[in-house]
Amino acid sequence: MNTAHKLARTPAQKLALRADLLDFTAAPSWGSPTLHGVRFRPDHWLMVGEDGRIQGAEPAASFTPGPDWQRHDHRGQLLIPGFIDTHVHAPQLDVIASWGTGLLDWLETYTFPAEQRHAHPEVAADGAARFLDALLAHGTTAAVVFATVHRTSAEALFAAAAQRGMRLVTGKVLMDRNAPEGLRDDVEGARADCEALIQRWHGQGRNSYAVTVRFAVTSTPEQLAMAGELGRRHAGLYMQTHVAENRDEVAWVAKLFPEARSYLDVYHRAGLLHERAVLAHGIWLDTGDRALLRDTGAQIAHCPSSNLFLGSGLFDWQAAVDIGHRVSIATDVGGGTTLCMPRTLAEAYKVQALRGTRLNAWTALHAATRGAAEALGLSHEIGHLGEGTLADLAVWHWAQGPVATHRDAVATGAVLSAAAPAGLPAQPLHARVFAWMTLADERNLAAVYVAGRQVNFRRA
Ligand code: GUN
Ligand code: ZN
Repeated sequence: MNTAHKLARTPAQKLALRADLLDFTAAPSWGSPTLHGVRFRPDHWLMVGEDGRIQGAEPAASFTPGPDWQRHDHRGQLLIPGFIDTHVHAPQLDVIASWGTGLLDWLETYTFPAEQRHAHPEVAADGAARFLDALLAHGTTAAVVFATVHRTSAEALFAAAAQRGMRLVTGKVLMDRNAPEGLRDDVEGARADCEALIQRWHGQGRNSYAVTVRFAVTSTPEQLAMAGELGRRHAGLYMQTHVAENRDEVAWVAKLFPEARSYLDVYHRAGLLHERAVLAHGIWLDTGDRALLRDTGAQIAHCPSSNLFLGSGLFDWQAAVDIGHRVSIATDVGGGTTLCMPRTLAEAYKVQALRGTRLNAWTALHAATRGAAEALGLSHEIGHLGEGTLADLAVWHWAQGPVATHRDAVATGAVLSAAAPAGLPAQPLHARVFAWMTLADERNLAAVYVAGRQVNFRRA
């Protein structure tokens, strides 16, 4: 168990953080960037009470916090809400960056053997601590996480999140077919495990339980029905799964469930689609599916680095916007190749570029902060810098290294090199933030706060 993390947390105290504050008050416009919904407060003090909640912000030019406030001066750095990763697999840190396969082979060759090891409580506990510390070290303070099929792996994640004060949604994976020995459960055993985990952890502190159907392929219709029943029996449960990621997978689901209109419809028939349902990928959907997502309030967790790495396909974000279903953004490690959200957002931009659209930085950042919080029903707690929310925050260097530093200087207008166009771009703030989003990685991270307490992520 990781004690470094505990030692790193500072005691509760009134805290004032000086930085460039950026968050969203509403969903930004799709397409060409405008400032709708964007709240940028350069060089402000963000005030955080002893209870870890944001109290407000004041311009540093005209305000200085009193002596009863502990001051952290991050002047000249970017302070944003901690990122929310809406789909990621804790045990798959063991297989990130594995060569040579598409989804179904990748699961069999790399992922299932790695997950088998998490049957051991010690492996699960070490893995959970390593994983949550890694999230924090990437500026991600909340996540919707897949454990393994083993009850102990979900236990370990909940316990580790509680120790860190983090917002976590997770659950034991349901898999009663098409999975190897040691990774299969059965309907009644799984029901009992879920009930015990819900009883112990759901709604405790910042933990919530997610009914976790791996994907339609690995659950019998009876298990899907049981998963739907759980969701109806317990208030506020989440549901997480995968949908329409890969064409071979879609064809397999069609064979296994000939009565369903589509892959997504398999989940709908089991009563699994609702406003706390998070479905990863959603690449191979049709208009009927998208309308169903909109009507049920379920969200797609778009996973660009995973979709590129596994060769799964190009998510149609424009179609989601046109029909009006929710989209959040996620790393999907270990199919995804990084826990870093700026790198993931940069990949999302490239996926949309390949589809012939341009994702603006505001839409991308919103989807990873306030948009995700709203889609999860958690915007009273996380995702923005509004008063009363918990101060889950990340402070980032605007640039690291000579290239990014030069680019940032050009964007801010401090340097107009001979090669740069005359004058500033039409949207200087967007240009600066887009360059940050495209060039930043975890080495840009300067500080992380969970519920108003600083985390020593480097020691972790
Ligand atoms: N589909 C079913 N299981 C998985 C998984 O672990 N990762 C991804 N990317 N897709 C899946
Ligand atoms: Zn996944």
